[in-house]
Amino acid sequence: MTLDKQNAARIDQESLFHPFTSVADHLRDGPLVISEGSGVRVKDIRGQEYLDGMAGLWCVNLGYGRKEISDAIAAQSRKLSFFHAFNSMSTDVAIECADALLARAPVPMARVFFGVSGSDANETQLKLIWYYNNLLGRPRKKKIISRWNAYHGSGIATASLTGLPGMHTLFDLPLGPVLHLTAPHHYRQAPAGMTELQFSQHLAKELESVIEREGADTIAAFFAEPVMGAGGVIVPPATYFDRIQPILKKYEILFVVDEVICAFARTGNMFGAQTFNLQPDIMTLAKALSAGYQPISANLITNKLYEVLVAQSDKLGIFGHGYTYSAHPVPAAVALETLKIYEERDIVGKVRQVAPRMQAGIRSYADHPLIGDARGIGLIGAVELVRDKATKQSFDPKAGVAAYLVRRAQHHGAILRNMPGDNVAFCPPLIISEAEIDEMMGCFGKALDDTWAMVKERGLA
Ligand SMILES: Cc1ncc(COP(=O)(O)O)c(C=O)c1O
Repeated sequence: MTLDKQNAARIDQESLFHPFTSVADHLRDGPLVISEGSGVRVKDIRGQEYLDGMAGLWCVNLGYGRKEISDAIAAQSRKLSFFHAFNSMSTDVAIECADALLARAPVPMARVFFGVSGSDANETQLKLIWYYNNLLGRPRKKKIISRWNAYHGSGIATASLTGLPGMHTLFDLPLGPVLHLTAPHHYRQAPAGMTELQFSQHLAKELESVIEREGADTIAAFFAEPVMGAGGVIVPPATYFDRIQPILKKYEILFVVDEVICAFARTGNMFGAQTFNLQPDIMTLAKALSAGYQPISANLITNKLYEVLVAQSDKLGIFGHGYTYSAHPVPAAVALETLKIYEERDIVGKVRQVAPRMQAGIRSYADHPLIGDARGIGLIGAVELVRDKATKQSFDPKAGVAAYLVRRAQHHGAILRNMPGDNVAFCPPLIISEAEIDEMMGCFGKALDDTWAMVKERGLA
């Protein structure tokens, strides 16, 4: 079979089982088959170009087709295409990469454990936390606190941490030891009339009362994304983390900061932890660690955990965990090159320069009758579409209003992403220019007009 622009969609429908895709919709509508990318743009197999307003899946921070990175892949594949890190084996490039990450971490970190994806990295975090408490002789301290709307991955344990009911219901999840708290989503979750500051206080009280109800001796860790991504791009209310962190310290609960989307300049600092003044005990990195060019993730752990491993693991048993491709030399070489580019091109400075344009663009639609909320920080943002602005009433999810908007944006030349609750996300490559931001927002504006016309025509509002 030779694939061409005529048969690609059909062969996809007959062969590929897609993640997070409605099988019925896919068989009806078919795929968008992307076959090339350069800068902030991708091209489909028919030659149609799109501005990628989602950096792939929140990861292509440096844009497509960077020669320095493809050269790094080729050079490392020729030099050493694979070696592993089990049983004290190592590679020069994995060592360099771990050292480079420790040198750049937002708080002092002791060691780096490599994996392949954000999901497997968070799975590692969980096992590490349980192992740590077993080494410390605290077998009851195992429950994990997460939040509704969180996204921490799609494995059995990480989908349990994730706070999206659609990832639980048909999979018999969540697993027992996960507790979900209210999402720090002022627009949706704050009781009427409550300010951001009061809402943060309210959420801190909720945390403390759950700890007291369950017993601090049963709670091991609190997982949080600095800005929730896939759950709707939710920027926490002012002082939220300032109030949460002392409570975690007080009850000896580890703070796991999931930086899978926020790290590498997305929020206007190298790490989300810097934007929100966080002191993680453990951090999860993935996605933009390689700018999406190769699969790689990293768990950064502080000395607080590492010294317990040093003292106890010989006596009680090794950390029997890892993946064939943990510390794979090719993605490690890519991560090193990517870190170099972030710094040499001052990507943080670049984000700070253009982010106000995108944030103003998003908020310029706030008065539109379909937009309930418009929010974001740095080069990540979202709008929430509502049926009734005054009451914040949502559309029937079956109407697929945000999905329609995203299809129309694609028609007008920009790839955006709809998420549960009729949210539409913006997360472009960080190399985007102001003119390209205007172009992306223009495509969104046209799609919003089309959606408004559709909503009126079908009597949905
Ligand atoms: C915050 C966060 N954590 C974890 C993950 C899971 O990463 P992966 O899809 O690489 O398994 C994601 C993916 O979007 C994420 O956004």
